[in-house]
Amino acid sequence: MNMTIEPKNLMNPTLELIMNRRSTRNYDSTPLTQADKDTVLQAAMRAPTAGAMMLYTIIEVEDQALKDKLAETCDHQPFIARAPYILLFLADYQRWMDLYEAAGCEARAAELGITPRTPAEGDLVLALMDALIAAQTAVLAAESLGIGSCYIGDIVEKAEEHRAMFNLPRYTFPAALLCFGRPASIPKGPKVTRFARKFIVHRDRYQSFTKDELNQLHLPHGRHSFAPGDFASGAQNVVQANYFRKFTASFSVEMTRSVREMMKRWVGD
Ligand SMILES: Cc1cc2nc3c(=O)[nH]c(=O)nc-3n(C[C@H](O)[C@H](O)[C@H](O)COP(=O)(O)O)c2cc1C
Repeated sequence: MNMTIEPKNLMNPTLELIMNRRSTRNYDSTPLTQADKDTVLQAAMRAPTAGAMMLYTIIEVEDQALKDKLAETCDHQPFIARAPYILLFLADYQRWMDLYEAAGCEARAAELGITPRTPAEGDLVLALMDALIAAQTAVLAAESLGIGSCYIGDIVEKAEEHRAMFNLPRYTFPAALLCFGRPASIPKGPKVTRFARKFIVHRDRYQSFTKDELNQLHLPHGRHSFAPGDFASGAQNVVQANYFRKFTASFSVEMTRSVREMMKRWVGD
């Protein structure tokens, strides 16, 4: 029989860091040192990058007025304004388009009979991958320096406002907003639970789950998915509560409108 031995509970300082990380929203007000910032940025820029093209730009958000505004535009999250350091990761094809133009690429392509093109859906997804991989590398680098972080997904809302705030050209697209700061106190309580591995890791092909299996999804949180409960939203179980709090919430509707707008601008008609 072909037995696979899966290593369990291997530990080293890097794994410890990954396993113990948790999102930090309550910051000590001391600013990060320049060495802290340089180290986090340098680590981000060492992340794997498609074709070594670095299809992203990182904006350091230092202006308190911008932080205050982000705390509003990103679904009213006041802790953003108190983050000592904020990085906006953009998927960025603009720099390459400017470079292509400066290098006379289109003119040369015409001479060679090669059809020129502009960034399309595939380029956007690739640039988003690049930006997000750099962002998560920044998270882990910061964590290793004792600096906590929190992603803000709402940065993809309010496309028009964020474009104006950060002067974003056409072929850029917000991929991640990250707040950084040393935790104001040692976090108490358990870390946020994850779903059981069998729901997340499939072998060889995608697997769907029966209703009975799905009922077990929330067991690591100490309850069944469809167990009756009483929620302020009127939901009757934990999954309905998620549906109302996340999926049908106004921020999700705005996110879709805003992302559609940004994709239209990137891809063109
Ligand atoms: C794409 C993404 C968007 C997120 N957006 C927010 C956010 O807008 N506000 C917030 O407080 N946390 C946000 N988070 C943090 C998650 O809530 C957090 O990672 C999750 O609850 C698990 O907790 P942990 O990071 O402490 O393990 C976001 C995380 C990710 C990956």
